[in-house]
Amino acid sequence: MSIKLSKRVSSLTESVTLKLNAQAVKMAAEGKKVYNLTAGQLPFRPPRNLVEGIRGELDFLGSFQYSPVAGEANLRETFLNYFYDSRKIKSSTFKEDFSLIIGNGGKHVVSNVFASLIDEGDEVVLIAPYWVSYPEMVNIYGGKINVVSTSIFNAFEPSLDDIREAITDKTKMIVINSPNNPTGTHYSDEWMKGFASFLKDYPNLMVMSDEIYYELNYFDPRPTYFYQHDEELLKRTIIIDGISKNLASTGLRIGYCIADKELISSMTKLQGHTASGANSLIQKSLLKYDFDKISEYLDPVKSHLRDNSQILKDCFRERKLSKCWYQTISAFYYFIDFSQTDLMSKYQKSEDDGQDYSAQICADLLEQKGLALVPGIAFGSPNCARLSLVPPKDSFKEAMELLAMSLTGE
Ligand SMILES: Cc1ncc(COP(=O)(O)O)c(C=O)c1O
Repeated sequence: MSIKLSKRVSSLTESVTLKLNAQAVKMAAEGKKVYNLTAGQLPFRPPRNLVEGIRGELDFLGSFQYSPVAGEANLRETFLNYFYDSRKIKSSTFKEDFSLIIGNGGKHVVSNVFASLIDEGDEVVLIAPYWVSYPEMVNIYGGKINVVSTSIFNAFEPSLDDIREAITDKTKMIVINSPNNPTGTHYSDEWMKGFASFLKDYPNLMVMSDEIYYELNYFDPRPTYFYQHDEELLKRTIIIDGISKNLASTGLRIGYCIADKELISSMTKLQGHTASGANSLIQKSLLKYDFDKISEYLDPVKSHLRDNSQILKDCFRERKLSKCWYQTISAFYYFIDFSQTDLMSKYQKSEDDGQDYSAQICADLLEQKGLALVPGIAFGSPNCARLSLVPPKDSFKEAMELLAMSLTGE
């Protein structure tokens, strides 16, 4: 008997990141030299006192029992205060209207936001390159995406005119992800200021601000946000954050969402029936973690990212690849535009061939050079690819030399 799957899941695409990662792992197991540049996580241990905190909670019965659906009350308070302090929110009026829900990772809360706001036919504006899971989630809930493209030529910042064009009377929400996966940059304060005044023209538009990489900024300036220019906008802003990236804890599955109380209350009902409260052991140990220490913990991580971004710069400079080089400053990725390199001519059939070859190029780079990258098409940007800046320096240098050589067509 063949199982008849729901329409909802039949249209889902397999995560390319996971697929490529699995192939790279398989090749390495076969003894082939593989440079795995697909990682979406830091190869660092979480802070020692967080690990100690987990150990310290192991003796308590409560650490193994259901946690409150929206999260431990004191931890929700801690995360809210961390948000207000780190983003320097001045006005106290929103603090009364705002609430926070803890879920099983950033992905879980993003999904529950879409589930709570998107009806069949509603539209969501995404900025490409975008995080691979946004479009899939919007589709699951019957929504439709309208994509605004960016490129290296505009520093991956979307033009407000393009956003205006993408908005229709069905648009419910726009998603902003700064610092950004997969570009490794964040929007300038100037852009955020312009976006804040732009939003005044669309009083019903909700904004999801995915700030999961907020702390991972290794060159100035620090990331800023549109609502810091006009705190009134917080009323319709949905903030996403968590510990996956800033505490190198992707496997502990703790993420949170801050938004208007009404939305958080509906997300809590949904979570109560679909997942219950997030991991109680981790929540209890996080209660003892001092969030002021995040930036100290991240110092060596940032230094590593600075070094690898320099290695990439040197390799690209040596091979005269300035057309596809830009300075990354945050998160831990770099986004290559193959169309700015000689490699592209091996694939394109003619000058005006607009087809996407990123999957083919990445498959060949893996097969022929052992370089595992994620094809740009998964992020909505054809003929590009994402690489991760996290591998150890020596192997990263070897990988960048090989990559730079391949990009020049050798
Ligand atoms: C932009 C962005 N948002 C959200 C997430 C979700 O993070 P997690 O579910 O691991 O907390 C990720 C993870 O890669 C991400 O890159």
